[in-house]
Amino acid sequence: MTRRVIVPLLALSLLTTILAVDKNNFKTCEQSSFCRRLRKYEQNKSPYYLDLSTLELDNNGFSASLKNSELEAANLKLTLTAIAGNIFKVTVDEVQGLHPRYKPQFSLNGEPQAAKLEILGRSSESISVKAGDAKAVITAKPLKLEFYHKEHLVSVVNGKGLFGFEHYRTKPADGEKDPQIQDDPGAWEENFKSHHDSKPKGPSAIAADFNFPGARRVYGLPEHGDRLALRTTGSGGLDPYRLYNLDVFEYEMDSTMAIYGGIPVVYAVSPEHTTGIFWHNAAETWVDINNSKDGNVVSSLVNLVSGSKTDPNVDVRFMSESGAMEFFVLTGPTPKDAVKQYASLTGVHGLPQLFALGYHQSRWNYNDQDDVTTVVAKFDQNNMPVDVMWLDIEYTDGKKYFTWDPIKFSQPENMVNNLTSTGRKLVVIIDPHIKREGGYFVHEDALNYDLYVKNKDGGVYEGWCWPGSSSYLDFYNPATMDYYKKLYSLETFKGTSHDVWIWNDMNEPSVFNGPEITMPKDVVHYGGWEHRDIHNEYPLSQVIGTYRGLIDRSPHRRPFILTRGHFSGTQRYAAIWTGDNDAKWSHLAASFPMCLSEALGGISFCGADVGGFFNNPDVELLQRWYQGAIWLPFFRAHAHIDTRRREPFLFPEDVMARIRNALRLRYAHLPLWYTLFWEHETQGEPVIRPLFYHYPQDDNVLDIDDTVLVGHSVLARPVTDPGESSVKVYLPGESKAIWYDLEDFRAYQGGIHTIPVTLDRHVVFYRGGSIVPRKDRPRRSATVMRNDPFTLYVALDSSKSASGTLYVDDYESFEYKNDKKYVYVHFNYENNKLTSSLIDKTDYPTKEWIERVVVLGAPKGIKGARLTSKSLGTVELETSYDSEFRSLTVRKPGVSIREPFTIELY
Ligand code: NOJ
Repeated sequence: MTRRVIVPLLALSLLTTILAVDKNNFKTCEQSSFCRRLRKYEQNKSPYYLDLSTLELDNNGFSASLKNSELEAANLKLTLTAIAGNIFKVTVDEVQGLHPRYKPQFSLNGEPQAAKLEILGRSSESISVKAGDAKAVITAKPLKLEFYHKEHLVSVVNGKGLFGFEHYRTKPADGEKDPQIQDDPGAWEENFKSHHDSKPKGPSAIAADFNFPGARRVYGLPEHGDRLALRTTGSGGLDPYRLYNLDVFEYEMDSTMAIYGGIPVVYAVSPEHTTGIFWHNAAETWVDINNSKDGNVVSSLVNLVSGSKTDPNVDVRFMSESGAMEFFVLTGPTPKDAVKQYASLTGVHGLPQLFALGYHQSRWNYNDQDDVTTVVAKFDQNNMPVDVMWLDIEYTDGKKYFTWDPIKFSQPENMVNNLTSTGRKLVVIIDPHIKREGGYFVHEDALNYDLYVKNKDGGVYEGWCWPGSSSYLDFYNPATMDYYKKLYSLETFKGTSHDVWIWNDMNEPSVFNGPEITMPKDVVHYGGWEHRDIHNEYPLSQVIGTYRGLIDRSPHRRPFILTRGHFSGTQRYAAIWTGDNDAKWSHLAASFPMCLSEALGGISFCGADVGGFFNNPDVELLQRWYQGAIWLPFFRAHAHIDTRRREPFLFPEDVMARIRNALRLRYAHLPLWYTLFWEHETQGEPVIRPLFYHYPQDDNVLDIDDTVLVGHSVLARPVTDPGESSVKVYLPGESKAIWYDLEDFRAYQGGIHTIPVTLDRHVVFYRGGSIVPRKDRPRRSATVMRNDPFTLYVALDSSKSASGTLYVDDYESFEYKNDKKYVYVHFNYENNKLTSSLIDKTDYPTKEWIERVVVLGAPKGIKGARLTSKSLGTVELETSYDSEFRSLTVRKPGVSIREPFTIELY
């Protein structure tokens, strides 16, 4: 115990005291030289123009030289490319610049598919082009890019003239003026606290402004501890949203400060149109937002005097420290289209194994191998399901990853076997820092094969993390990737098995003694890239190495990886969580907008530490946390090493009962979650969605972020305040919509409702018009539920119809993909008849069948039901009407899910 904690705990408590409440350890825009510099640009004075006499055209796009009328030395080229699915890509780079400029290597899901470009008109002043429904009109002087969806203007780039591109240059001699950089003292070297950034390549920032005419709100830019709708920055001293992956202990709420992940995508939403911009850059990035609804004192006064009203619109300005400029215009037109366009570029989560959607039990740390076994046994004794046990850093031998503590985890094979023989899995943590200790094989190999990140002078970079002095694997080096993936093999990582999965933490990367707790920007990665260029992508580079390792280790299982740092594209490899939150009501509340924002940013598989990582939640908060967290895709309890134990079985029976109910509700909905993940993989739709995703025309929903749509059928409004006796919930869809309260199946119309709540009460609704597949038999884990029968909840809309889908396969292998071994069913209910049909011509020999159909909003007076299927013929079924639960139950259809059938109610 003592040996375990001395160094890390000291480091942690030191850091907690120094950092937890001390924002001074992280830069503001004013303290970041490029942000400060770029924000000084004046509007409507853009010196940039496109020289259309240099235009070069091809089938998919064009390029032309981009000039700066005040700066001859700037030699830039702008390229516009049409991408399949109504997307445009715009790239601006230097021609024969002093240094190459970085484009992220890992974020895109392959080269985007180019589309055919049609020239609509061309002169020396402008050029108009079209591809599918997307159109672009480029004005040469000053540079202006207008993007349309059909005839609808959706975004204007450089309309405010705030485009900027600092080409690489030689350092001016003392006393010489640089017209672009002016006299910014931080341009050529910069200090922050005791840290010095040598900036060997000098200033290299880029910026562009995007206007979205008609937009009411703008969303995106995870990860921040903030509301879902982005706020106007600048006014009231609000800093721009910062994207710079950082390890911020006890991060603040209502804040635009950077935390662990940085996804540079925004969506501007109006009732008619949604447009996205994906700013494809991995360097430190700040984003200013201006929403016309927030106005400013001057314009409000002008409007008052003139009686005029500004049309709603939103401005977004991206500013990055380095890299080539590349952005994608996602022309929508609906939120769904724009989010799918983003997914077409950066990819989707592969379908997880079923266990990954169950409940995960973690803490820093389970003390030893017996502790792990006992915890699982207690879940079983108390009839609470759990699928995964987690081990934090203390399982290792002195924070040397890929090893086990020889005393506390002396027999990992036995522990793993005990656990997995009950269908459970283990997840262990692996961080990217490597202990610099002679004799530690990973460190020695990394030195011998030259696999580490280098400092600016070419030596191995050394920083401080959990193990003390550490170096950091450079996943940009193909040799590191090759070496790293082999570390996960069963031969090398002894004690693991095909049922052990991985948690990549601290990979922003976290460096306790580095500037802003991360790596200095002038350290160097393979290929000569400065850390400055690749910073936000570093965690993604690690998870790719882990993913490849797990695929090689267990080629027939879908890997499960959890990562803290994340970037665009992370979803193709890993789930994320919201890091070190706090046992506070505000942090419970924030987990919903934070994960919704991630889902819009492509990362649906998101959750927050249940109960809060720091501090001890009271029982009310803990219960509410379980009740809310079951509606987020990743569902894991986790806690800091200094907190009291809080596994659910440690509480009095009434508390346990509430947590048990929450767990059971989660497990009952696993078929829905699983189907949604399949649809996410194949169709690109997020698994969880904010209300505006389906109801962008309804102004009332634009600021609602305490409500989660699971797919389009379940609406959850978790209770996130103490002592509540009621909560307000907005049910979208106006008066003709019907929503069924899960508590008693009472039907509500669309609109605002006040729902009385007790501690037992979940505020959850099924949308009338949907069919929700469930498995209602309580079990010990998801794995043992695989053959259980389904109950279909048919929630009727006002025309007494409903539809839904269900997806099943072997829940673990790749056969669904490689051999089409799955069953994907469509259910339709109309005219008192439920019909199932197979969507794809595929099959999987599942044993799953239908044990019950529950019709919500069913007409009274139904006397019976008749099932017809090929193998069963026509069978009479028993029905009963439950007036308390306002539902009709059809018992034991007994039909296999593989087989199309009809059930007629009469
Ligand atoms: C930081 C992570 O955010 C936390 O979840 C974990 O327990 C600690 N690192 C220790 O590994």
